Amino acid sequence: MKVTAPDESQSEPVSAAGVAGTTKGATPPGPRGHFLLGSLREVQHEPLKLLYDGFREHGDVVRFRFGATRAFFLAHPDHIRHVLHDNHRNYDKHNIDYAMLRRLLGNGLLTSDGAFWHRQRVAGFCGLMVDSTLEMLERWEALAQSGEPFDAAVEMARLTLTIVAKALFSADVSEDAETIGAALTEVNRQLGEFHLLDMLWMIPTPRKRRFRDAVRALDRVVDKIIDQRRRTTHRNEDLLSMLLDAVDEETSQTMTPRQVRDEVLTLLLAGHETTANALVWTWYLLSQNPEAADKLHHEVTSVLGERAPSGLELPRLPYTRMVVEESMRLYPPAWAVSRNAVGDDEIGGYRVPRKTNIIISSFITHRHPAFWEEPERFDPERFSPARSEGRPNFAYLPFGGGPRICIGNGFAMTETQLVVATVAQRYRLRLVPGHPVELHPLITLRPRNGMRMTLRPANDGSATESPARAAH
Ligand code: HEM
Repeated sequence: MKVTAPDESQSEPVSAAGVAGTTKGATPPGPRGHFLLGSLREVQHEPLKLLYDGFREHGDVVRFRFGATRAFFLAHPDHIRHVLHDNHRNYDKHNIDYAMLRRLLGNGLLTSDGAFWHRQRVAGFCGLMVDSTLEMLERWEALAQSGEPFDAAVEMARLTLTIVAKALFSADVSEDAETIGAALTEVNRQLGEFHLLDMLWMIPTPRKRRFRDAVRALDRVVDKIIDQRRRTTHRNEDLLSMLLDAVDEETSQTMTPRQVRDEVLTLLLAGHETTANALVWTWYLLSQNPEAADKLHHEVTSVLGERAPSGLELPRLPYTRMVVEESMRLYPPAWAVSRNAVGDDEIGGYRVPRKTNIIISSFITHRHPAFWEEPERFDPERFSPARSEGRPNFAYLPFGGGPRICIGNGFAMTETQLVVATVAQRYRLRLVPGHPVELHPLITLRPRNGMRMTLRPANDGSATESPARAAH
């Protein structure tokens, strides 16, 4: 889909946050939509535009109807905090968005409201992250010399997949990277694009066949990882052995093979696709903002010289961190989350009937003009401690918030910073002129046409490069 950059000359959205009480019990405003479908077609084809237009026209709480499903979209941090944190027990993750995802992931971490999810703890794996990046850079040498364009989206996905598989399961999946990539593209596309036909699960369609094949391909990779482990006598103290050995305290039973498979697949998917997108958007934004790129290269070379970074050095790379944070503000990889109201509630003075689907989009909240000055501008220093002061927590939520906040948060922040610093020590990534950069908001926020880029040495300054704002 195409998203027009917000027109700053437009009037600011109406803020409902401050009016709690004055509209007590009222129904929030929203588009009328099609008499039968409501806004179903728009949410299928241009979800970001639908939400953005709704926000600009109607304010912080917008009512939508998708067929028979009633949904409220929340843009204000206070309302988001209410749903994800203060009153989170009233909002579960079982709703239509996850119905199909659950079929893929079974009762995996990402979708279960059960007891599994908080067992997981992901530690830091800095050495592995840097080593995997250096291996990628070796492969890049030929690209740098030839100046040949490559797809940074593919490269980042391969890198983050390698890292998460090694870190969590001590598995080398480099041979399967392409299979996983293709299967994920299919799954992501189908889960992101809600189709009416999918409601009729009995009817086999080519779409469904492709989905099933993609799931099978992913299953095979996961089975391979688990089989290899079961056959080996060598003990690995990683998450996979934790999963295989985990004993339920109540039933004294270990996980079934199916449960292990669900957990492994969840982590493999949740743990790499998002991070890959965070990185690819970072390279894109740096290519369009040469001054910021200069500052980044200056920081990594002055702090690290030629030395590879270590996790301990991250606090000495504050600009690198701000670049990553600002990139995830503008292009949050997990651009929306949703919940289902279990019981009646009230938000911003509006009545929320039970069973209402709640939509929260970091993409929109990260552009809320009450919290972000010139929201479309790439300005990493807005994350400096001084400028962050007073900003509500839930105005920035790339990892969600409350008890269901991303469990890979720390892992992903460490990984993105280490990868950016390691690559930036050697290279600048330049967008191939004319490459059409477009947002593709599926489950994750991908660049629709990939990201064709070329490499230049890091010390080759940016003076000759003129930033071109890509239409997205
Ligand atoms: C830049 C990278 C990442 C982003 C932007 C991201 C974003 C998110 C978001 C927004 C949620 C909350 C979903 C919701 O509230 O419904 C989430 C949940 C989750 N993430 Fe991440 N994530 C990233 C990396 C990772 C990594 C590296 C892992 C694993 C190693 C991971 C594993 C998970 C899991 C298991 C959940 C589900 C937690 C639950 O439901 O309780 N994520 N992630």
